[in-house]
Amino acid sequence: CRVRHYKFHVVAKTTTRLCSSKSIVTVNGKFPGPTLYAREDDTVLVKVINKVNHNVTIHWHGVRQLRTGWADGPAYVTQCPIQPGQTYVYNFTLTGQRGTLLWHAHVNWLRSTLHGALVILPKRGVPYPFPKPDDELVVVLGEWWKSDTEAVINEALKSGLAPNVSDAHTINGLPGTVANCSTQDVHNLPVESGKTYLLRIVNAALNEELFFKIAGHKLTVVEVDATYVKPFNIETIVIAPGQTTNVLLKADQKSGKYLVAASPFMDSPVAVDNLTATATLHYTGTLATTPTILTTPPQKNATQVANNFINSLKGLNSKKYPVNVPLTVDHSLFFTVGLGINPCPSCKAGNGSRVVAAVNNVTFVMPTIALLQAHYFNIGGVFTTDFPAKPPHVFNYSGPGPANLNTTTGTKLYRLPFNATVQVVLQDTGIIAPENHPVHLHGFNFFIVGRGVGNYNPNTDAKNFNLVDPVERNTVGVPAGGWTAIRFRADNPGVWFMHCHLEVHTTWGLKMAFLVDNGKGPQQSVIPPPKDLPKC
Ligand code: C2O
Repeated sequence: CRVRHYKFHVVAKTTTRLCSSKSIVTVNGKFPGPTLYAREDDTVLVKVINKVNHNVTIHWHGVRQLRTGWADGPAYVTQCPIQPGQTYVYNFTLTGQRGTLLWHAHVNWLRSTLHGALVILPKRGVPYPFPKPDDELVVVLGEWWKSDTEAVINEALKSGLAPNVSDAHTINGLPGTVANCSTQDVHNLPVESGKTYLLRIVNAALNEELFFKIAGHKLTVVEVDATYVKPFNIETIVIAPGQTTNVLLKADQKSGKYLVAASPFMDSPVAVDNLTATATLHYTGTLATTPTILTTPPQKNATQVANNFINSLKGLNSKKYPVNVPLTVDHSLFFTVGLGINPCPSCKAGNGSRVVAAVNNVTFVMPTIALLQAHYFNIGGVFTTDFPAKPPHVFNYSGPGPANLNTTTGTKLYRLPFNATVQVVLQDTGIIAPENHPVHLHGFNFFIVGRGVGNYNPNTDAKNFNLVDPVERNTVGVPAGGWTAIRFRADNPGVWFMHCHLEVHTTWGLKMAFLVDNGKGPQQSVIPPPKDLPKC
């Protein structure tokens, strides 16, 4: 195993998209940021040098960070932000992990432009459990606002209303042909006829689950969230912010330009966004400038198209890559995830109210010192460990919801003994309206053992859980007006954030954290913090 050194210069860069320019925060002047390459079990050191007038942290989304929470990155959860002029070295080991993940800023809305792919190759000499591709291509999906994204969210917080939706989606930083702008910033994916490509697809958008499809080509799904799956063929994949999907693409046509489309998936009555990003799959030697073979993206509420993909996902469960789903559960939790409306006398536009979001009716309040520091150094008064194991009221969760369910606020953690097995049923609520929530857990992969529409029923639904070959992920889309059940083993001591990966919902409070106690031995304890850990 190697030690890999990277330098991230966080710098401002004037960037033009949709025929208008703005200054964005980037890594090394690139949007999307650089792809990091490493191999399984490598140690990665990334020196982040903050040269902008903005607090920065970087999160290595999906990296397990075994006992190294100090390198996880969420601001005020595992570290204080890297302030302007400061540096911090993220030091972590990719123990037992290979596949595609992503890195992104984890403070405010900075990840809109500060993100990139993280490619972990198998150990030298270890083949993929699928036919070796001729080449690999990284496809990073994103979202673009013409205005400054921090201004967008700050304005929303002041008014109490929902923030403006983005002006475009992007494929490797480019929106494709967009009406009302004459420039055509189209990303080309170059392929040669007869070859097979591994596409490493990353959704780094802030607020949107996306469909992804390529005209005239089937995709063979082989991996999600850096875990291998049983290969299957499909036309359209769905990918939530924070998720990654590896597919094999056989360039089985002779020539031509094929449309690549990334379009929103939002099966909610409140959905307003409908922008499609386009790129081209370009057979080398083809001269046409515009795609000649087109495809129609799914409707934004095409739940069936999404379900076709999601229900096809199964863990590979081979001898070499077994599925280690916990068969028994020590902590059985039921979490409602959803939106709400709280009073807000100072909110002008919102008629004295504001949109909030909550888990089990608790709107999480960010502390001003990092939770992991408070835990490690025994600093009192920063958090409490009374996060509720179930919602405070029983109601028809997937229905319209009771009239006045104001959320409570607090910095509440749920405490777990080392190595406990945990089941969490995540139930969407319809309090404002049902909506998709891609929920991400830091520090762990989990197994998705069940999923359904309506209200979870412990008596009947649990009987149908898949405990044989469930897919393993770090981010799961809780269906609008439905539920999903996950299981994991709390084998990583520290403080681990769990939140909706739609950034607007995180901002509104759809987040909580688990505190996992140390085990008995040093191999079961949080390692001491590095010397350069930023101070608040
Ligand atoms: Cu990719 Cu806490 O986030």
